[in-house]
Amino acid sequence: MCGIIGYVGQADSERPLEVAREALARLQYRGYDSAGVVVANSRGLHHVKKAGKLSVLEEALAATPLPPATAVIGHTRWATHGGPTDRNAHPHLSADGSVAVVHNGILENHQALREELASAGVEFLSETDTEVAAHLLARAYDGLGDLPEAMRAVARRLEGAFTLLAVAADNPHLVVGARRTSPLVVGLGEGENFLGSDVAAFVARTNRALELGEDQVVAITATGVMVTDFDGQAVEPREFTVDWDASAAVKGGFATFMEKEIHDQPQAVRDTLLGRMTPSGRMRLDELRVEESLLRSVDKIVVIACGTAAYAGHVAKYAIEHWCRIPVEVELAHEFRYRDPVVNAKMLVVAISQSGETMDTIMAIRHAREQGAKVLAVVNTMGSTIARESDAALYTHAGPEVAVASTKAFLAQITATYLLGLYLAQLRGTMFPDEVRSILRELEQMPAKVQRVIDGEAAIKALAVQMKDTSSVLFLGRHVGYPVAMEGALKLKELAYIHAEGFAAGELKHGPIALIDQGQAVFVVVPSPKGRDVLHDKVLSNIQEVRARGARTLVVAEEGDDAVAQHADTVFWVPQTPTLLAPLVAVVPLQIFACALATAKGLDVDQPRNLAKSVTVE
Ligand code: F6R
Repeated sequence: MCGIIGYVGQADSERPLEVAREALARLQYRGYDSAGVVVANSRGLHHVKKAGKLSVLEEALAATPLPPATAVIGHTRWATHGGPTDRNAHPHLSADGSVAVVHNGILENHQALREELASAGVEFLSETDTEVAAHLLARAYDGLGDLPEAMRAVARRLEGAFTLLAVAADNPHLVVGARRTSPLVVGLGEGENFLGSDVAAFVARTNRALELGEDQVVAITATGVMVTDFDGQAVEPREFTVDWDASAAVKGGFATFMEKEIHDQPQAVRDTLLGRMTPSGRMRLDELRVEESLLRSVDKIVVIACGTAAYAGHVAKYAIEHWCRIPVEVELAHEFRYRDPVVNAKMLVVAISQSGETMDTIMAIRHAREQGAKVLAVVNTMGSTIARESDAALYTHAGPEVAVASTKAFLAQITATYLLGLYLAQLRGTMFPDEVRSILRELEQMPAKVQRVIDGEAAIKALAVQMKDTSSVLFLGRHVGYPVAMEGALKLKELAYIHAEGFAAGELKHGPIALIDQGQAVFVVVPSPKGRDVLHDKVLSNIQEVRARGARTLVVAEEGDDAVAQHADTVFWVPQTPTLLAPLVAVVPLQIFACALATAKGLDVDQPRNLAKSVTVE
């Protein structure tokens, strides 16, 4: 985890610190248990670092302002080695104070390096793995006299995943970075340059960016960027334009990012759908660089993802199997990676990720590609590791998602996988063109339908406030309602710290019904009565079964479903929608409920305890 910013400008000013503070605020979703900055000017390095949220660092900076400078590196931390304390916060300085480093990732050989350095007389001030890099870099710099060269020498010795940024006391016009597996992108400014864990770090200042590859070292000055591999061979990085609107990364009048992002959802779906149909009414997915012949011939799709993204994959399974008649398996990336899966060139692996940096998913992608499978990423963050390392990327265009718990990315992921399913159906001829067009037209109506659910949020919020002392909530669904139930439970767990479980409604009688007691709250996602009647009726029976045993039934149902109201204590109506597309509306009341209940409990919905937005370690 951890967020990183680096910056070099032309002359001493307050700007480096301003850039770092703004970037750290945007990068907090990557970790927020401590933060720190070090600025460089002709008088050397000056740093402040503090355990706690960014506000604690801000207070420290107000109490002890840092001097004007030309360069800065900054860090927001999610602890892995050593607890969240002032000492363990980054930056870490070498013993002689000649260099400072910040780090994201895990140095797997840190113990051996620490012992080596300790036996050479180095005293360690922190319990972090990172500190070894600071001492090693100072020693290499002392010998080589060139910071990029020293960084390459250190990077070659490190094992594990890392992004390292460094600045030297005797050169305030240079910041050097190295990356292996952990993310780092370059922002190109006018007379200034940036390094960031992702483009959110600098999107307010420039939309020109450079992708960095595996095992590369980058050196930025105010006017130049030099990239090499770890052996010093020059590398030409690819430039790309960031199409995120910087204002999308601020709260826009909402009290929290989570509320804002729930309200962003119609736009996220709309943007993900944009430009996917040719004037002749055929679908196109321009960025899909997998050969059509492969897409025609694959005999299986395996979706790999984690958490909410995996639930989006479960929704995709129902749609893609139905439309394309290709078997689809959905597997948690970390389970897939380490169970010796059968992978071959006839299958397509679809990796879903908002951040594009989830280490479990990256490892699974690498494994699948090594075994000869093509990997198509459904990803939200441009220039991210998953986008780069996959054979093709289908972007979700949800914009930056800052709240740790995923909302708008989920809807965008579902939308993108529908597009993929329709595209495959068109290519493989499993649907007639007018069938594809008619579903695309239904999809185009989804933003307005999602908006209608959001417009009705007051009733959901009122219920959430009333239920703020609830200690357990169950969620039931069938068919596409099943992953929606699991996502509803996940939102409640992570935002409100309430025990919550999502079940397939059909599984109820095989065990979970034993949990039902007087007053137990049960959300039920009811399928459309017009879709598959049999499913609808079975879910109505499930509602009656739990109600007969004392449950309080909170039902998400389609407008006009007259049969449902008599079985429900409360109904949240959602607009009529074809069954396969219904998750886009059905999940929204569950997100609003979880967010409102957590808010009523006085919890921080943007940064729930123990979580980080990008899980960049396995
Ligand atoms: C839950 C949540 C997580 C992520 C998961 C994958 O609200 O946000 O479960 O969905 O960590 O993250 P990405 O999509 O970035 O790979």
